[in-house]
Amino acid sequence: MYFSFAVALAAFPFLVGAVPVENSRRDVLSIPLSKRWLSQLDVPPLPSLPGTRRKMTFVLPVLFAEKGGSLTKCVLRKLRRGFEASERNIRKRHPLAPKHGRSDKRSVPGNVPLTDFNEFMWYGTIQVGTPSKEYSVSIDTGSANLLLFGSSCQSCQGHTVYSPLNSTTAKDVGPSVNITYPFGNVNGTMFADTVYVGGFEASNGTVIVATEIDTNLNSTNFGADGVLGMGFSGLSPFNALFNASTVLEKLVDGGQLPEPVFGLVLAESNSELIIGGRNSSRYKGDLVYTAVNGSTGYWQTRLDNITINGNDTQISTTEAIIDTGNSLILGDQISIANIYAAIPGSSRMNDSDLWTFPCNTNASASIVFNNTPFEIPPNIFSIGKAREDLCIGAFAEFPAGANDTGYWILGDVFLRNVYTEFDYGNARVGFAQLA
Ligand SMILES: *[C@@H]1O[C@H](CO)[C@@H](O)[C@H](O)[C@H]1NC(C)=O
Ligand SMILES: *[C@@H]1O[C@H](CO)[C@@H](O)[C@H](O)[C@H]1NC(C)=O
Ligand SMILES: *[C@@H]1O[C@H](CO)[C@@H](O)[C@H](O)[C@H]1NC(C)=O
Ligand SMILES: *[C@@H]1O[C@H](CO)[C@@H](O)[C@H](O)[C@H]1NC(C)=O
Ligand SMILES: *[C@@H]1O[C@H](CO)[C@@H](O)[C@H](O)[C@H]1NC(C)=O
Ligand SMILES: *[C@@H]1O[C@H](CO)[C@@H](O)[C@H](O)[C@H]1NC(C)=O
Ligand SMILES: *[C@@H]1O[C@H](CO)[C@@H](O)[C@H](O)[C@H]1NC(C)=O
Ligand SMILES: *[C@@H]1O[C@H](CO)[C@@H](O)[C@H](O)[C@H]1NC(C)=O
Ligand SMILES: *[C@@H]1O[C@H](CO)[C@@H](O)[C@H](O)[C@H]1NC(C)=O
Ligand SMILES: *[C@@H]1O[C@H](CO)[C@@H](O)[C@H](O)[C@H]1NC(C)=O
Ligand SMILES: *[C@@H]1O[C@H](CO)[C@@H](O)[C@H](O)[C@H]1NC(C)=O
Ligand SMILES: *[C@@H]1O[C@H](CO)[C@@H](O)[C@H](O)[C@H]1NC(C)=O
Repeated sequence: MYFSFAVALAAFPFLVGAVPVENSRRDVLSIPLSKRWLSQLDVPPLPSLPGTRRKMTFVLPVLFAEKGGSLTKCVLRKLRRGFEASERNIRKRHPLAPKHGRSDKRSVPGNVPLTDFNEFMWYGTIQVGTPSKEYSVSIDTGSANLLLFGSSCQSCQGHTVYSPLNSTTAKDVGPSVNITYPFGNVNGTMFADTVYVGGFEASNGTVIVATEIDTNLNSTNFGADGVLGMGFSGLSPFNALFNASTVLEKLVDGGQLPEPVFGLVLAESNSELIIGGRNSSRYKGDLVYTAVNGSTGYWQTRLDNITINGNDTQISTTEAIIDTGNSLILGDQISIANIYAAIPGSSRMNDSDLWTFPCNTNASASIVFNNTPFEIPPNIFSIGKAREDLCIGAFAEFPAGANDTGYWILGDVFLRNVYTEFDYGNARVGFAQLA
């Protein structure tokens, strides 16, 4: 089943460029994109200015109900499923995780099972406060604060909320702050409290407590109860202002982690955040490392090359930001055009930052790091169908024709195929084939 482009536009006029997807793997039709989002958002700032607010493209999934169901129902059902999974995760705590409230120096990594929300966001459970309370948080390598929804926040109802008054370890740190996330704005206040990730304790970790949120972050539209920023301090203006560190930095500086690394498996099943080490049973072969330039605040590294079906492509930059907060791979117009030039019959969609290609070409891409190609296989390279014979590709342009962004954003369509290690201690990222 697929809807024509015109039907989709008529039904959801704000979704220019969004097309329903025929999808045999899931019972919910989903499509990751809304033009409204892309056009509203500014081109990302060059990430060379620590302290600038993060304002990045984000691809919001739009759900289309199957069999005539309403859009809302569809979203709710998916959410409920997510919550059930999250509850399962809570009950199934890692046997090695210590009881909260006591520090424990273990020599093995902790793991946080992750649940995916429409394949656009992966979230897992952390604990915050004393006594500690559980929150499911989206793991975001492209931001650097822990965000929770405050109990006094009207627009946050439906989320599991945080009340500093209920935690004996909560400290009021600073005045009001505003964060511009790719998926919505937040007004909040800054606190510090004890945060547990995978059982490891970060004392006095910064918590931004939302007092007001955009509707895109409300409990209907946003499936997690917070965001755990795993980027570097420099990404957050508040960290510099208040000499605060990220939760990851607190864990590392506090000597909590056996090794100053974390890993992500964002796969079809058993997705997880592995903290303080690596889980070698989740990948094959050796990790292939490339250096990270942390001065930008992002997990920014260099790729060698991008190939399509084994053919080299001409790209204008090799700088690449690893960002779990983005669904797709974003590049400048010229590089994207060159990538699709390697797929006969591909063309840019009208009024869109997306490209289509003939489904029967079975296109796949490889991102080459340190002479090692990592494949985005055909089933992931195609993010959906624009027409029965026309597929939409995983590589999209930065919005508004930005030709000189100077970097790529490698989002989930890439990360879903690999085990990724974020090595804070050695300033590098490593990739390996999933086991
Ligand atoms: C890291 O990035 C900054 C800002 O873009 C740049 O000035 C610096 O030269 C880079 N360092 C390396 C080693 O590439
Ligand atoms: C705070 O504690 C009170 C009393 O135990 C409880 O009723 C309330 O739900 C708690 N609020 C939050 C946000 O945890
Ligand atoms: C930031 O948020 C506070 C309230 O939390 C508000 O008073 C202030 O005007 C906001 N600033 C901006 C630039 O949105
Ligand atoms: C934050 O506060 C500013 C100023 O009061 C307001 O304009 C803006 O809409 C608020 N943002 C959110 C997400 O509530
Ligand atoms: C969230 O916002 C949407 C509109 O985007 C609205 O339909 C929905 O009712 C809101 N949910 C809550 C819990 O406020
Ligand atoms: C900032 O915090 C670090 C520890 O996180 C501390 O070593 C340093 O002295 C602090 N700097 C200032 C100016 O307070
Ligand atoms: C806790 O962290 C805040 C920054 O988030 C800092 O201002 C404060 O000094 C820290 N307190 C302690 C006791 O380290
Ligand atoms: C590593 O992954 C395997 C397979 O998913 C799992 O059984 C094992 O518990 C994991 N080990 C750790 C330390 O998380
Ligand atoms: C990209 O790969 C091709 C061959 O696959 C090679 O000729 C070219 O030098 C590579 N470019 C870079 C920047 O590594
Ligand atoms: C590279 O592209 C050419 C034509 O564009 C095609 O004939 C060839 O099969 C491609 N190479 C691979 C390995 O797919
Ligand atoms: C895109 O626009 C061109 C020219 O305006 C038109 O011929 C073509 O049919 C359009 N394509 C689609 C898929 O709407
Ligand atoms: C970006 O490059 C494309 C292709 O060369 C060109 O059509 C477009 O006008 C350029 N956009 C800007 C903003 O320079």
